[in-house]
Amino acid sequence: MMHTQIDEIRREAAAFPLNSSANLEDFRLRYLSKKGVLNGLFDAFRALPGDEKRTVGPAINQLKTELEEKWEAAKKSLDALATAGRGPGTTSRQKEIDEEDLSLPAAPIPRGGLHPISLVRRDVVNFFATLGFTLSEGMEMVDDWHNFGALNFAEDHPAREMQDTFFVQTNPDILLRTHTSSVQVKEMQLGNLPIRTLSPGRVYRNETVSARSHMQFHQIEGLYIDEQVSFGDLRLTLNLFAEHFFGSEAKIRFRPSYFPFTEPSAEMDVSCFLCKQEGCAVCKQTGWVEILGCGMVDPQVLEHCGIDSQRYSGYAFGMGIERLTMLRYQIRDIRHFFENDLQFLRQFSGE
Ligand code: DAH
Repeated sequence: MMHTQIDEIRREAAAFPLNSSANLEDFRLRYLSKKGVLNGLFDAFRALPGDEKRTVGPAINQLKTELEEKWEAAKKSLDALATAGRGPGTTSRQKEIDEEDLSLPAAPIPRGGLHPISLVRRDVVNFFATLGFTLSEGMEMVDDWHNFGALNFAEDHPAREMQDTFFVQTNPDILLRTHTSSVQVKEMQLGNLPIRTLSPGRVYRNETVSARSHMQFHQIEGLYIDEQVSFGDLRLTLNLFAEHFFGSEAKIRFRPSYFPFTEPSAEMDVSCFLCKQEGCAVCKQTGWVEILGCGMVDPQVLEHCGIDSQRYSGYAFGMGIERLTMLRYQIRDIRHFFENDLQFLRQFSGE
């Protein structure tokens, strides 16, 4: 008799909906509370004759455990749902409100942010846009001519060894560009003069990955070709850029250098914005930080690309975006940029 009753309660409880906190409370009141069904069973149990008690007792206890476990499990999963769905900002009051309350504020959606490399690239591109530079992009896979040949790297020129190159195995004439200077060639060949353009992009070199160098990184190339462009124009432009990027007190200096596609060539340093030239680890106690390579486009390069070098002249410059970003945010290891570590990236997303 009591066994049938226990089975009926078990069946009824199994069908009881437990998908909201209100249901959960109804279930508790009906079965588990002081005046609930289970305690009713225990009362009836007490009135049973001794031999029946021996089989009914364990059956009621078993039912009690089942109902308690069912309730606990449902509560756990409802709580988990509430935290996952509403995020860490949820108040306990919100959790208790029924799931179907349509007046609740929507669950917050985590927003993405820009990668620090993108932030710096945009900043540089936007700055040069104010000086009239357009944006141009080239392909990451180019032929030898665009990356080397047109830029005066002769076949056996030792300068080719300045840049370890990834070649396509089946066609060694095709390679992953080692610098964005390859976009210069394409732009000059298009021949829409005057040219004043900025070319950001990814480049590749067969280098051992370390804190300071990587086999992939980003550069920004600048190119200006017109009649009577001078080194003075280059200086002025880069000075304005340094002031924009490093602050109004930034000074620049040029050191003579060598690139096959510019003559004369220079490397540009900016005064150390961290220590104000007193000497620190970033500038290696010199007060200066190297920023970019630049120079006047070699007339031979203009001719290679079909531009009359008697009439036109120009300057070019190229800089590494990782380097600028590391300086701006004081990041000490270039590998951070490529590891997609959200803890690192979230620092830049403004969340
Ligand atoms: N392409 C050079 C490099 O990857 C950087 C560079 C130097 C670019 C001088 C230029 C330039 O446009 O004029 O190291």
